[in-house]
Amino acid sequence: MTETNQYHIPVLVDEVCEALIINPDGVYLDGTLGGGGHAAEILKRLSARALYIGMDRDPEAIEFARKRLNDYSNVIFYHGVFTELEKAMEKANVKELDGVLLDLGISGHQVDDPQRGFTFRTETKLDMRMDPTAQTVTAADILLTYDLRSLSRVFRIYGEERHSHCIARLIVKERESKPVVTSDDLIRIIDRCVPRKHVKKSYARIFQALRIEVNKELEQLREALNLALGKLRKGGRLVVISYHSLEDRAVKQFLRKQENPCECPPELPVCQCGKTPALKRIRPYLILPREEEINNNPRARSAKMRVGEKL
Ligand SMILES: C[S@@+](CC[C@H](N)C(=O)[O-])C[C@H]1O[C@@H](n2cnc3c(N)ncnc32)[C@H](O)[C@@H]1O
Repeated sequence: MTETNQYHIPVLVDEVCEALIINPDGVYLDGTLGGGGHAAEILKRLSARALYIGMDRDPEAIEFARKRLNDYSNVIFYHGVFTELEKAMEKANVKELDGVLLDLGISGHQVDDPQRGFTFRTETKLDMRMDPTAQTVTAADILLTYDLRSLSRVFRIYGEERHSHCIARLIVKERESKPVVTSDDLIRIIDRCVPRKHVKKSYARIFQALRIEVNKELEQLREALNLALGKLRKGGRLVVISYHSLEDRAVKQFLRKQENPCECPPELPVCQCGKTPALKRIRPYLILPREEEINNNPRARSAKMRVGEKL
């Protein structure tokens, strides 16, 4: 790939830079480096004294970003999940951070490469591991081994799909005679459960559910938010961009809870639990891409950004 912007078009770039950079000489951790699109723009606005730690669980992303950011000597690359941020900080020899960026989900490159098995647009074996070198289950493994209840639960909870039970039941029945392992196998089953006029949305929901389960995305997110907050210095910023309602809900709840951790019953006149706020939410609480950005990059349409500042 030669054109850097073909790998992934970063979203809300100006908004991210404005929210994240509190000190041009600071230390920043990008937990989702991807193609380095945000990183490239942030680095332009930082001084040479700043340090940028770029993490990604996808080794291809790390290699791509490494080449793209070759001109910068103040970038430390780390291949691994963002819940390993302490290890990445050890590698960079830093104890505190001025900002953490999490631009969740998958990159355009990951979804567009049929070999990675994320897409329902081409026939492909369903893999969906963001890190193809990880010894973890693939989406095909899930379809082959999960029982009816577990499959139905994944589709219902992570896909918020109404026809979850029907889809799960047909998968279990079908695989008695022939394994269900490709995108086309799965699509044929969804087609049998969902009315034609809603079916495209159901493809997206079911594929999303499998991706979340394969990569343990919500567990990763919840753990990383706590870890990141623990590592930010006072005044440091946590910037999170999410792409579906489950992620956004987790981010929103985390920020609210950290801003208002008091667990006392509302009728008590003064707080007695002693829990004090760890961060404040930065206004506006929800930042969305402008129409112009969505027109230029349709994948930006589901992006939601939220920002917290460590107290
Ligand atoms: C939306 S893309 C980020 C794009 C990037 N901001 C850019 O401008 O090119 C999300 C990236 O995060 C990575 N990722 C998702 N979850 C991760 C996790 N738990 N730990 C580390 N990387 C993760 C994916 O592999 C993917 O490369």
